Amino acid sequence: MSNYHIKHLEEYFQVYRKSVRNPESFWEEVAEEHFLWRKRWDNALSWDFSKPEVKWFEGAKLNITENCIDRHLNTRGDKTAIIFEPNDPNEAAQHITYKQLHDRVCRFANVLKEQGIQKGDRVCIYLPMIPELAISVLACARIGAIHSVVFAGFSSTALSTRINDSDCKMVITSDGSYRGSKTIDLKGIVDEALEDCPSIQSVLVVKRINSDIQMKEGRDHWLQPLLDEAYHDCEPEIMDSEDPLFILYTSGSTGKPKGMVHSSGGYMVYTAYTFKNVFQYRENDVYWCTADIGWITGHSYIVYGPLANGATTVMFEGVPSYPDFGRFWEIVDKHQVNQFYTAPTAIRALAKEGVDYVEKYDLSSLKVLGTVGEPINEEAWHWYDDNVGKKKSPIVDTWWQTETGGIMISPIPFATPTKPTYATLPFIGIQPALMDENGKEIKGNQVDGRLCIKFPWPSMARTIWGDHQRYKDTYFSAFENMYFTGDGALRDEVGYYRITGRVDDVIIVSGHNLGTAPIEDAINEHPAVAESAIVGFPHDIKGNALYGYVILKDTGEYRRHDNLRKEINQLITEQIGPIAKLDKIQFTQGLPKTRSGKIMRRILRKIASKDTSNLGDTSTLLNPEVVQEIIDNAL
Ligand code: WTA
Repeated sequence: MSNYHIKHLEEYFQVYRKSVRNPESFWEEVAEEHFLWRKRWDNALSWDFSKPEVKWFEGAKLNITENCIDRHLNTRGDKTAIIFEPNDPNEAAQHITYKQLHDRVCRFANVLKEQGIQKGDRVCIYLPMIPELAISVLACARIGAIHSVVFAGFSSTALSTRINDSDCKMVITSDGSYRGSKTIDLKGIVDEALEDCPSIQSVLVVKRINSDIQMKEGRDHWLQPLLDEAYHDCEPEIMDSEDPLFILYTSGSTGKPKGMVHSSGGYMVYTAYTFKNVFQYRENDVYWCTADIGWITGHSYIVYGPLANGATTVMFEGVPSYPDFGRFWEIVDKHQVNQFYTAPTAIRALAKEGVDYVEKYDLSSLKVLGTVGEPINEEAWHWYDDNVGKKKSPIVDTWWQTETGGIMISPIPFATPTKPTYATLPFIGIQPALMDENGKEIKGNQVDGRLCIKFPWPSMARTIWGDHQRYKDTYFSAFENMYFTGDGALRDEVGYYRITGRVDDVIIVSGHNLGTAPIEDAINEHPAVAESAIVGFPHDIKGNALYGYVILKDTGEYRRHDNLRKEINQLITEQIGPIAKLDKIQFTQGLPKTRSGKIMRRILRKIASKDTSNLGDTSTLLNPEVVQEIIDNAL
């Protein structure tokens, strides 16, 4: 019997039970029936969370692109794999068939080889949402190079940090990118970043906006002429199941970004299986995820998961507001999208513009709606359900993380009854636990605690690039023998989970994870700044926005606060990117600290949220008097 496609609730419970009673044989069955392996595994799973070490399908040989492309050529060669919808609605959409995708990935892979890229080398991809982004990802996987995609909204400093952390040999970029009515000089950002990146030997440049850019002799190459010369077929490199497929950076609460390392075999099996079930994808459906491939959602649910199922996946280059706020719905109508997956931030921003934009278009093709990246509030959930899904398309509120590789808690549409703001039930094979502050598991229902996972699943990250100790400290040390997610959650009376938000110093702004430490470091580089602390506060559209408390040095120099605020945000834009800019900056004489010198962010968070009724006992602070001063001057 195949458990690959779950269609009703009873079946979910049955398959779930099977998957947790005997995870090894469950995942073996899925892996065996639905994928192409060059050699079968010797061992389905070995694991030890204390090291931590997790291996799935050890000894198996495969290439993920063979599963995402070659395998479909006989049956789906002329089917559209990728629909590319450009930023400008007047530019024609592109439909790339599986055959064409095979050709383009193979040529690109051959170019990489000619440029000296070999199995195991790291390649940084810094591209807008154009077909070459998906194609270059697959081309790396084709030859066993490890891709590290950096979201093309990150600044040059953020880019060079990521390139250097994993010693990338090559950067793939474009002359520029379109973003609504603006263009962005991506190549200029890369040039700046590379002033500081000794490991980079070459840069491949896609022509997108036809801008006049500098090409550095011997280092930079236009991609197209190389592709034209390249051979159209490329044998896939045969990889071990546990060989790294990619690195993707995510923010931590402290320190530099963490390069999460994902495997080949387990990642493929889990992303494909979740895609099929969470979106109830059927042959000939058109699926669209609005995320950027620069984030994990794009890796798993624009590229690998959909293509492993032979699906048609939409890639959109632009933004939801261009040329107007009806763009998403225009695209749904135009391509007859069946599954639509987006972030709560986008829903809130579009809801604010009114339903006229939605009602102009025919959305009757939609069958399943999804959300990801942050908690969805009840109002946004209902707006989405009423106006986009017309109350007939189930909403899958999918909880997961860069670290988990795939969706962990989510309804299965038409099987799991949905409940606004709840991610509902653990996905097949996932064993969540809620923990109290003393490290004890909280059993039963109607409880809340820190969300952990007790048992390995195939797509979990295997390590942090170059820093296994940090991987252990961050995820496997807070609770014994558990993966700690960093999120809080509650479990309701029927066992549904609701994610309540981060319990560490990561703040999710518009669905993007931001660590407080790198932002504070950027602010502290300003010559007038002595110290700073960042907290999140609720924001109608972004979910959270950033509030900075800044202590100025007593330089005797008079500066207008408004100018300083601009300069501070400018520094943040340069060091990290515009997504990390502060909404509010309050200058203060001091920050509340414990006697050991730790900033009491809990108090700052309450003040930023205008909730000063219950600040708790502040008398044990080193400097209790600053609290009143901060409250009096709060913005
Ligand atoms: C948050 C994105 C509530 C959560 C796939 C998690 C969510 C972090 C949800 C990971 C959801 C993600 N409901 N919160 N449905 N999905 N989160 O690594 O705090 O960019 O830890 O992965 O986003 O963000 P990341």
